[in-house]
Amino acid sequence: MEIVVSGIRPTGNLHLGNYFGAMQNFVKMQETNQCFFFIADYHSLTTHPTPADLHGNVKQVLVEYLACGLDPEKATLYLQSDLPETAELYLFLNMNAYTGELERCTSFKDKVRSQPDNVNAGLLTYPTLMAADIILHKAHKVPVGKDQEQHLEMTRTFANRFNRMYKVDYFPEPVAYNFGEQLIKIPGLDGSTKMGKSEGEGNAIFLFDTPEVIRKKVMRAVTDSGPTEPNQPKPQAIENLFNLMKALSAPETVQFFDEQYNQCAIRYGDLKKQLAEDVIKFTTPFRERILDLLGNDEYLHKVVTLGREKAHASASKTIKEVREIIGFKHF
Ligand code: TRP
Repeated sequence: MEIVVSGIRPTGNLHLGNYFGAMQNFVKMQETNQCFFFIADYHSLTTHPTPADLHGNVKQVLVEYLACGLDPEKATLYLQSDLPETAELYLFLNMNAYTGELERCTSFKDKVRSQPDNVNAGLLTYPTLMAADIILHKAHKVPVGKDQEQHLEMTRTFANRFNRMYKVDYFPEPVAYNFGEQLIKIPGLDGSTKMGKSEGEGNAIFLFDTPEVIRKKVMRAVTDSGPTEPNQPKPQAIENLFNLMKALSAPETVQFFDEQYNQCAIRYGDLKKQLAEDVIKFTTPFRERILDLLGNDEYLHKVVTLGREKAHASASKTIKEVREIIGFKHF
C-alpha cells in the first residue's frame, strides 16, 4: 500500500471547486492507500502568529473534510501541532538545507513582497517544514496542485540529500499524486474559468452556503444578452454555467437548456433558477452534516485523538530511526 500525505491550510471553506477538484479524490484515495491528512497549523504561524485566531478555522476545516467523507478510521486525520515529531525532523532537515536554495523559492519571494514587515525565518524554512510533514511518514505520494510543485521538488531534494549524507536508502522520493482525467474543473460564477475563494465575491459557492445565499449568487452569475443566431458556440460565461450544470444537474436538464440555447430561445433566468435548485440539492446534505458535526465536540475530540495516536505511531518510528542514522550516541 502506498503512503499518501497531504497538509491542509486552515483558511477558507470548501467550495464546489475544491470538492470536485480534490475532495472527491481524497475520499477515493483513502480506500486504496495509507493516507495521512493533517491541518497545517504550524505552517500558519508564518503568517498568523497567534493560533487562537485560527482555532475556529481549524475546527471548520476538520468538520468540512469529515462532512465530505474523509473517514478517521481509514485515513489518519490529525493536527500538525499534535505531532511534535514534525518539529524535530524539521530541525534535522534545516541543518542540511541551504539558505540560498530557500531564498530562491517562489513562495518565499512572494511572502517577502506581501508581508515585508514580517519576513520571519519560518517563512524561509517553510519548505523544510513541509518536507518534514511528508517524509515523516515516508510518503510516496502527495496530492498537491501546481502551486506546490516547487515545494515538492525541494522535498525530494532534502530527502535525497539526507540519504546521500548519511549513506542510507531511507526516505522514498515523494511524487505528486496524479489524478489525471478524474479532475473536474469547476468554473466560477463571475465569468472566470476557475472557482476559487481568492477570485472575488460571488465567484464561489461554498458547501456551507445557505439556500438563500446560493440562490442569490447563482442569480447574479455573469451572462450576456443571449444568442442571436442558432447553433453558435457559447461565450465563456455561458459555457461556465453549462459546465456547472453538467457537474450537478440531470443530463436531461443540461440537454433541455442546450437545445433552448441552440434555438435562441434560452431564458437565462430559468436556467439559473434550475441551476440554483440543483446546487442546493447537491450541497444540502453536506451543509447538514457540517452543522451536525460543528455541534458535536465530543466526536471531534475522538477523531483528533485517534488521529494523533495513529500519526504518532508512524512518526515516532521514523524519528527513532533517523536519530540512529544520524548517529546520536547514548550514554
Ligand atoms: N503548503 C501546502 C499549501 O499551502 C500545505 C502543506 C503543508 C502541505 N504541509 C504539506 C501539503 C505537506 C502537502 C504535504 O497548501
